Amino acid sequence: MPTRPNADTRTAPAAERASEPRIDPRERSIRSYVVRAGRMGPGQVRAMAELGPRFVVPYGATRCDFAAAFGRDAPRVLEVGFGMGDATAQIAQALPGTDFIGIEVHTPGVGALLKRIGELQLTNLRLIQHDAVEVLQHMVAPSSLAGVHVFFPDPWHKKKHNKRRLIQPEFVRLLVSRLKPGAYLHCATDWQPYADQMLEVLSAEPHLRNTAAGFAPRPGHRPLTKFEHRGLKLGHGVWDLVFERR
Ligand SMILES: C[S@@+](CC[C@H](N)C(=O)[O-])C[C@H]1O[C@@H](n2cnc3c(N)ncnc32)[C@H](O)[C@@H]1O
Repeated sequence: MPTRPNADTRTAPAAERASEPRIDPRERSIRSYVVRAGRMGPGQVRAMAELGPRFVVPYGATRCDFAAAFGRDAPRVLEVGFGMGDATAQIAQALPGTDFIGIEVHTPGVGALLKRIGELQLTNLRLIQHDAVEVLQHMVAPSSLAGVHVFFPDPWHKKKHNKRRLIQPEFVRLLVSRLKPGAYLHCATDWQPYADQMLEVLSAEPHLRNTAAGFAPRPGHRPLTKFEHRGLKLGHGVWDLVFERR
């Protein structure tokens, strides 16, 4: 029986809403992404049509019943911006006891990951095609996640674009509010100025504790991507940060 995900139509209780981290609506006109046009290959189009109804959870501005969406109640890890989803699929395959919620705005990426889900016969992965900020605010309950992955978020190199970077105090507060105590937040980047910003922002968040003395060794669950492998050979760095919710 396909597990067609159902949005839980309950809205958050008033007490919960009152303690929610606020994201200034004026700030929300600054997005961390641009929606790029991109062609989908025939395999991705087919995967979207055949697997989309089962594996894509429609966005809704209400709490989602993820246990119903997955058909079980396992620890849940959310990934912000999975790109083409190579790492996401590898991680989900390696950790069948964990359920993964992948969020991405880019349509070809969603198609590509659905294709991988089909090829690898994964059952522990669901995708949401929407802005991760709004998904976290509206669909994900506070203190409900076992972990969050933010791998190679857009670095927005130019100074005038730095404000588009995801890892900023307000967004981190929102992420942390969705983690269970003891759950982890794992970020990685190959852009040193962004790595320094991440370390500063995460270290300043009072509800987080760094699991390393500064940057962390790459945790075993994050696969080395082809791109990263090439970069490392060229002497480029990659910085991992692994923090835990207190
Ligand atoms: C540089 S790519 C990295 C992709 C992937 N994590 C990887 O390591 O290959 C960053 C991705 O994050 C997505 N993204 C950025 N901001 C987002 C947001 N607010 N919600 C959902 N996806 C977002 C972009 O569309 C893009 O595909």
